[in-house]
Amino acid sequence: MPNKRIGIIGTGIMGSDHARILTAGIADAELAGVQDASRERAEALATETGARVFADPQSLISDPDIDAVMVCSPDPTHHPLALAAIAAGKPVMVEKPLASTLAEAKDVIAAEMKHGRRLVQVGFMRRFDPGYCAMKAELTGGRLGQALFLHCIHRNAIGPDYLTSDLVISSSAGHEFDIARFLLDDEIVAASVISPRASRLAPNRQPQFIVLESASGIVVDIEVFVDCGYGYDVRGELVCEKGTISLNPSPATTLRHAGHDGYQTPPDWRPRFAEAYRIQMQAWVDALSGRPNDGASAWDGYRAIQVTEACLKASRTGTRIAVPDDVRPGFYA
Ligand SMILES: NC(=O)c1ccc[n+]([C@@H]2O[C@H](COP(=O)([O-])OP(=O)(O)OC[C@H]3O[C@@H](n4cnc5c(N)ncnc54)[C@H](O)[C@@H]3O)[C@@H](O)[C@H]2O)c1
Repeated sequence: MPNKRIGIIGTGIMGSDHARILTAGIADAELAGVQDASRERAEALATETGARVFADPQSLISDPDIDAVMVCSPDPTHHPLALAAIAAGKPVMVEKPLASTLAEAKDVIAAEMKHGRRLVQVGFMRRFDPGYCAMKAELTGGRLGQALFLHCIHRNAIGPDYLTSDLVISSSAGHEFDIARFLLDDEIVAASVISPRASRLAPNRQPQFIVLESASGIVVDIEVFVDCGYGYDVRGELVCEKGTISLNPSPATTLRHAGHDGYQTPPDWRPRFAEAYRIQMQAWVDALSGRPNDGASAWDGYRAIQVTEACLKASRTGTRIAVPDDVRPGFYA
């Protein structure tokens, strides 16, 4: 079978990372095209990978030599580019979030359902992370009993200047919302948010402490602190009736050196989730040939935005906000 020819729109941090993962050893796929608002950036990646450069997103999406598209441009472009890929009948992996608003996410769902075939996957790669997968398998296996709490920590070394307190919720915490739904196989029904004072080292935004409640009665707490200073650190612990299971700090080695005993913390998310990105990409490519895949659908992307919007409202009002209990369409069963 010929390789699936992938086109990447947006060749910044994530697009370049995905391109390198793709060219380094994803079976049955090749990087066929790249496009970026900065032609120079696209050309640099094309020189490195041998891909063809496209002048604009639509020409890449419509080209007969492109079989499937990855959207790695900024959040506001996700909605129009997902719609363009659906209109062209091409599978599309959209980096998270699916869209910038709930109305846009609904648009994507409506377009995909009208098209009649699932084309959209959202880049919630934690679903493919071996640690989270082991937690899910353990919970499903049943030996720990039912889940009661999921404790999550999401820390970055230092956030970009543009990150506001709201963006800490809407941009940084989105992965947590999706992985909670995925791990627990449950829907989030309510959200509350408490914000401590800002760190004096990052006075323009507050860290956030989010409490979610699931339909079956599990409590999920999430600390999001994007200015922790020491590195990228994602933790998770599932507390069940008969025991707990936690993610191991990454990487899986312990360094003892010069009076230090512990784990080296990666500078950002790419080394921490390198394996998850690789497995996600291979699973997506395999799904292009019809193999089933646990990737996040447009519906999952929509639900993550619903939780985000409830958290933003909870943060502004200081109250507990119910997340609407939309019924999942059979199309996304
Ligand atoms: N899954 C993850 O773990 C993860 C991590 C970080 C970022 N993201 C998401 O990935 C996306 C990209 O983030 P990034 O950190 O790579 O950003 P980035 O700024 O490094 O890269 C974005 C690129 O898109 C280009 N661009 C801007 N507008 C464009 C347009 N209209 N058409 C084509 N190209 C355009 C920019 O020139 C830039 O090169 C964002 O949506 C972000 O939320 C996901």
